[in-house]
Amino acid sequence: MSGTRAESGERPVDLAVVTGATGGIGAAACAALSESGHAVLAHYGTRTDRARELQRSVEAQGGRCHLVSSDLGTDEGVGTVVRRVRQLLEQQYPRYRLRVLVNNAAKLLSPSFADTAPGDFDAYFAVNAKAPFFLSQQLVELMPAGGSVVNLSSASAHFSSPGDIAYAMSKAAIESLTKNMAEAVAARGIRVNAVIPGFTQNGHPGFEIPAVLEYMSSFSVLGGVSEPETVAAAIAFLASDAAKRTTGALLDVTGGSILGARGSRAHSMKDLL
Ligand SMILES: NC(=O)c1ccc[n+]([C@@H]2O[C@H](COP(=O)([O-])OP(=O)(O)OC[C@H]3O[C@@H](n4cnc5c(N)ncnc54)[C@H](OP(=O)(O)O)[C@@H]3O)[C@@H](O)[C@H]2O)c1
Repeated sequence: MSGTRAESGERPVDLAVVTGATGGIGAAACAALSESGHAVLAHYGTRTDRARELQRSVEAQGGRCHLVSSDLGTDEGVGTVVRRVRQLLEQQYPRYRLRVLVNNAAKLLSPSFADTAPGDFDAYFAVNAKAPFFLSQQLVELMPAGGSVVNLSSASAHFSSPGDIAYAMSKAAIESLTKNMAEAVAARGIRVNAVIPGFTQNGHPGFEIPAVLEYMSSFSVLGGVSEPETVAAAIAFLASDAAKRTTGALLDVTGGSILGARGSRAHSMKDLL
């Protein structure tokens, strides 16, 4: 058991829980947090092969990666993650200290305003807003002072997205959770922040289609889309002591997608006249 980067003698090892670790950003967040010395509990939904590949890759770099799978659309799914964390904290060696929770798992690409059924609405809010709320509520109880929660929002919480409305609304909810929880747990010495990604390469086939890529790129004043490693670096920063005076903050890594401009479109009415 000795010799991994996440272990150092008798000192407790910092544990980071990352939900949705089989996704583009989640996998990059696990790699970044492992790189900064954390043992990782990588949570995922259905893609066991991808989770095992992530585990192999983190451990090949000298890190430590545990896995847990559950459906965060259910209360039981949240409970499964909490039980796994408790199990890891109770084991004798290595001795873990819960330091970071990254609420990253989400259902993306929801139906339009006209097409959203009550069940869709509930499903998006269950995974994207309710699960982060209750997972955070239960895990901060196990987190000593100095711990940090990082939530994943989205640029779409900041402009109208009627074609993706339940998703956008759920991301507005997670920003509200971030600010409210930051105050609620401040007295315990725990910080809560959010990262706001714009379009980020996550392996979805749409990133291979030029017209889709051009559309996504048009949102950013810098052009292009983000790499997951760029978002992961922001997550790792907020999780670290380098951000120890930062709580309740929203860190924008959208490439300027929420400035109100549109990169590859006309910048003002004058350009169209
Ligand atoms: N990529 C972007 O363009 C973008 C832009 C803005 C914000 N974000 C935010 O960044 C975060 C990560 O996005 P991503 O693009 O990396 O996502 P992704 O590649 O689609 O991966 C989603 C992850 O969430 C898990 N998940 C989904 N539904 C779940 C459920 N019911 N129960 C448990 N796990 C579930 C998936 O697990 P399995 O696949 O194993 O089932 C997967 O690990 C999300 O919060 C997203 O809203 C992404």
